[in-house]
Amino acid sequence: MSDAVLILGATSAIARATAVAFAARGDTLYLASRDEDELRRISADLRLRFGIEVHFGLFDAEATETHEAFFKSVIAIMPTISGVVLAFGYLGDQVLARDFSVGKKVIAINFTGAVSILSICANYLELLQHGFIIGIASVAGDRGRQSNYVYGAAKGALSLYLQGLSNRLYARGVRVITIKPGFVDTAMTYGLPGLFLVASPQYLGERIVGSLGKSADVVYLPWFWRYIMLIIKCIPEPIFKRMKL
Ligand SMILES: NC(=O)c1ccc[n+]([C@@H]2O[C@H](COP(=O)([O-])OP(=O)(O)OC[C@H]3O[C@@H](n4cnc5c(N)ncnc54)[C@H](OP(=O)(O)O)[C@@H]3O)[C@@H](O)[C@H]2O)c1
Repeated sequence: MSDAVLILGATSAIARATAVAFAARGDTLYLASRDEDELRRISADLRLRFGIEVHFGLFDAEATETHEAFFKSVIAIMPTISGVVLAFGYLGDQVLARDFSVGKKVIAINFTGAVSILSICANYLELLQHGFIIGIASVAGDRGRQSNYVYGAAKGALSLYLQGLSNRLYARGVRVITIKPGFVDTAMTYGLPGLFLVASPQYLGERIVGSLGKSADVVYLPWFWRYIMLIIKCIPEPIFKRMKL
C-alpha cells in the first residue's frame, strides 16, 4: 500500500531527493516550505516524472502560531496522511550566532519550530495508530564543537526530542526515525571550509526512504559517521577542549 507523506522543508536539496525516492514508490506527497514558486516547480516535476499526486503549501517553521492551521489544511487535502519528514533546517553564520540575537533564529527554526509542528503531527498519527515520522537531525548534535555549537545544540535537542517521541509512539504503532547526516553537498554547506567525506543529496534521499524498511531508529548517513562520531564522543574532555574542531 502506498503512503501519503508530508515533507516539511521540501525545497531543501535533501528533501527534494527524498521526495523523488518516495515518488518512485508511487506515494502521494504534500510539499511544504516558505518558497511557493519553488514548491510549484518541484511538484510539477514530480507529477510529470512519476505520475503521482503532489500537493503543496506554505509553511514557516518560525511562525509557530500558524502550525495548527497549516496542519489542518494538510489534513483537509490529504486525510490519509501516513508519514511526515522533517527536513527544514538553518545553519546560520556560526560566528555571528555567538550573539543570541542571531543564535535564537538557529534555535527557533531547528528546535522550537520542529517541536511545534511535530507535536501536532505526532498527536494526529497517534490517533490513527499507524505511520511514521522521520526527523533530520545532524552529527553536529552528538558533541558540542566550537565551530557550530549553537546549531549543534539545537540539533542535539531535536535528536533527544525524537528519541522521546519514538519511546512514546512505539506502543501506538507510529515509528519515529532520527536521521543524522554528516556533510552533504547542498546550499547549506556550499563554500564552507573543512568539509570532508561529502555525500550527495541523492544518496541521502534513497537511504532516508530505505530506512523505513530497516529496523534502526537512529540512522547515520553515510553509515561510517556512526563510527566517526563514536570516536569523537570518546575523546576525553581535557583533550577535546584543546582541539580546534
Ligand atoms: N547539508 C548538510 O551537510 C547537512 C548535514 C547535517 C544535517 N543537515 C540537515 O538536513 C536538512 C536538510 O538540509 P539541506 O542541506 O538539504 O538544506 P538546504 O538545501 O540548505 O535547505 C534548507 C531548507 O530549510 C528550509 N527552511 C529554512 N528556514 C525555514 C523556515 N523558517 N521555515 C520552513 N523552512 C525553512 C528551506 O526552505 P525555504 O527557504 O524554501 O522555506 C530549505 O528547504 C536540514 O535539517 C539540515 O539541518 C544537513
